Amino acid sequence: MPSPAIELRGVTKRFATPKGGIYTAIRDLTMEVAPGEFCAVVGPTGCGKSTLLHICAGVIPHFISGELSGSVKVMGQETADGSLARIAANLGMVAQDPENQLSAWRRA
Ligand SMILES: Nc1ncnc2c1ncn2[C@@H]1O[C@H](COP(=O)(O)OP(=O)(O)OP(=O)(O)O)[C@@H](O)[C@H]1O
Ligand SMILES: [Mg+2]
Repeated sequence: MPSPAIELRGVTKRFATPKGGIYTAIRDLTMEVAPGEFCAVVGPTGCGKSTLLHICAGVIPHFISGELSGSVKVMGQETADGSLARIAANLGMVAQDPENQLSAWRRA
């Protein structure tokens, strides 16, 4: 078995809500994506698909702050260590509306 291209271990992501509460968008997620594997993430609105991609791409925690726990590795390297530029050398993310993706992150 080759090493995973993407590897999440026990990942939990919580967001602060406008009313001062805490919302758990992803809870204790463990998953792997192998090199060359085609992986579809499917689910209803608000179930955490974009949040998962933001975590894989390092946008969380480098750009969107807040509590993130667990281990996230892309090509064997923890995304929390180092820079977004280093992660981007191995993993790119294109949002559904690419023209809005940077401004959407800026608002986050
Ligand atoms: N930056 C943020 N700040 C606060 N809450 C957030 C943030 N990003 C996402 N959330 C919340 O996390 C949950 C998951 O959102 P996410 O955008 O990951 O869902 P999704 O599955 O991509 O939905 P959709 O199918 O509509 O694109 C939602 O309740 C959302 O409001
Ligand atoms: Mg989404």
